[in-house]
Amino acid sequence: MNHNDNPSASNPCDAQPFPPDFVWGSSTSAQQIEGAAAIDGRGASIWDAFCAEPGRIKDASNVDIACDHYHRSADDVALMHWLGLNAYRFSISWSRVQPQGRGAWNEAGFAFYDQLIDQLLQAGITPHATLYHWDLPLALDRDIGGWLSRDIAEHFADYAAEVARRFGDRLASIATLNEPWCVATLGYETGQFAPGHTSRAEAAQVSHHLLLAHGRAMQAMRAQTGTGLGVVLNHTPPYPAEPTEADRRAARLNDGLTTRWYMDPVFLGQYPADVLEHLGADAPRVETGDLDAIRQPLDFLGINFYTRKLVSTRVPPLPAPGALGFTDMGWEIYPLALTQHLLRITREYTPPPIYITENGMANPDVLLADGRVHDVGRINYLRLHLQALAQAIAQGADVRGYFYWSLLDNFEWDSGYAKRFGLFHTDYATQQRTAKDSAHWYREFIATHAKQRGQGV
Ligand code: FCB
Repeated sequence: MNHNDNPSASNPCDAQPFPPDFVWGSSTSAQQIEGAAAIDGRGASIWDAFCAEPGRIKDASNVDIACDHYHRSADDVALMHWLGLNAYRFSISWSRVQPQGRGAWNEAGFAFYDQLIDQLLQAGITPHATLYHWDLPLALDRDIGGWLSRDIAEHFADYAAEVARRFGDRLASIATLNEPWCVATLGYETGQFAPGHTSRAEAAQVSHHLLLAHGRAMQAMRAQTGTGLGVVLNHTPPYPAEPTEADRRAARLNDGLTTRWYMDPVFLGQYPADVLEHLGADAPRVETGDLDAIRQPLDFLGINFYTRKLVSTRVPPLPAPGALGFTDMGWEIYPLALTQHLLRITREYTPPPIYITENGMANPDVLLADGRVHDVGRINYLRLHLQALAQAIAQGADVRGYFYWSLLDNFEWDSGYAKRFGLFHTDYATQQRTAKDSAHWYREFIATHAKQRGQGV
C-alpha cells in the first residue's frame, strides 16, 4: 500500500484486513462534552477553574455547557447507533461522582453514568470508560496539592475501585488514565493546561504520582471486576529531521521523555536511564516498591495517535515537510508513523492487545446552507490512518479496535471551541448536531466491514 496514494481515487470502503470482531468506535471525554458543570451535586474540576483565569483559553470560553451532553445523552447515543458504532469510549468526571475527590459519593452523578451505560447497551454499543481524562476535582488540587501530592494515588485507587464495583460488570473496559504525559508536561511544566504550573521538577514528580495512581488503581480494580483494565498513552513518534548524530540523539531523548517514560515503568518496571540522567536533580522521588506497584499486568494498551514529531536541532528548527498536509491544529498528517510505531511497540514491549483509543483531526469545518459539512480533509485523514492501521495489523501488531476522536465537535482544551474534531458538527448556540460528510463515510466504512464479516471475508 502506498501512503502517498490519492485517497479519493479509490473506493472509500475498499476491503481492509481488519479482524472480524474488530471494534469500531468513537471517543469523547466528560469535561469536553458534558456541561452541567454545577448541577446535581457535581464538584468543580481544575478545568472549570482554569477557564475562569483570564488568558488561559484562546477564545475565553468555558465548560459550563459545552455540548450539554449531560442532558442529551440519549440523542447522542442515537447518533452513535446511526453511525453503526459497536463501541463508545467516554470518561467519567471524578468530581461528578465524588465532588471532593475523596469522601462522600454523589449518587446523582453515578446515576448519570448508570443510565448512559444502559442506553449504550440497549443500542448494542459496548461502553469503554476512562477514569481520568484531565478533570481533577478542584478540591483535591486546593486541599492537598493535586497530583503533586503522593496521597492522590490512594484517593484515585478508591475512586477506581468504586467505579469498578458499580459498573465493572457492564463496561467492556476501564482505562485508568488518559495521556499522563499531557497531564504532567502540559499541566505542570509548560503551563498550557490546567492547573497551569511551570516547573520541570514538578512535572516529573507528577508523572510519577500519575503512574503510581495507575498502578494502585489497577490493583484496587482487579479485586472488584473481571473487566478489561488498562491505560491510555499518547504517542507522537519523533523522527530526526536530518540524518545527523545531533538530530538522532535529540529524537531519541524526545522518545524517552514522551513514550519510554511511561511505557518502561508500566511494562518493564523501570524508568529509562537516559531520561533520568537528563532530568538530573529534577528526577522524581521514587520510593521502594513504587515501580512494582506501577508494573501491573494490563488487559489492553490504549494508544492515542494524531501525528509525528519532527525533531531538528537547527536554529530555527527545520519545519515538518507535510507532504500530506497539516490539520487545523497545525499537526502534520503522517500516517506512516502509526504503522511504524505500532510495529516498534510490538517488538520492544510485547504489549497486551492494543486499541487505538484516539485518532482524528481538527478541520476548519463549515456548515453550509444545505445542511452539509464537506470535510473532505477528514475523510482523507481517516482513510489514510485506517490504511496505516491495516498495514500494522497485517505485519503483526495485535490491534483490536479503533476509536475516532471525536464523536462531535467539543471543547478542545486551551483552544476552546475554535477547533473542530467531530464526526458531527455541533452548533453551540442551538446544540444542533449535524452529520459531516466524514460521518457518512465512516458509517459506510463500518457497514461494509460488517457486511464482509457476515460473508466471512
Ligand atoms: C488528545 C486528548 C483529547 C483531545 C485530542 C484532540 O490529546 O486526549 O481530549 O483533546 O487530543
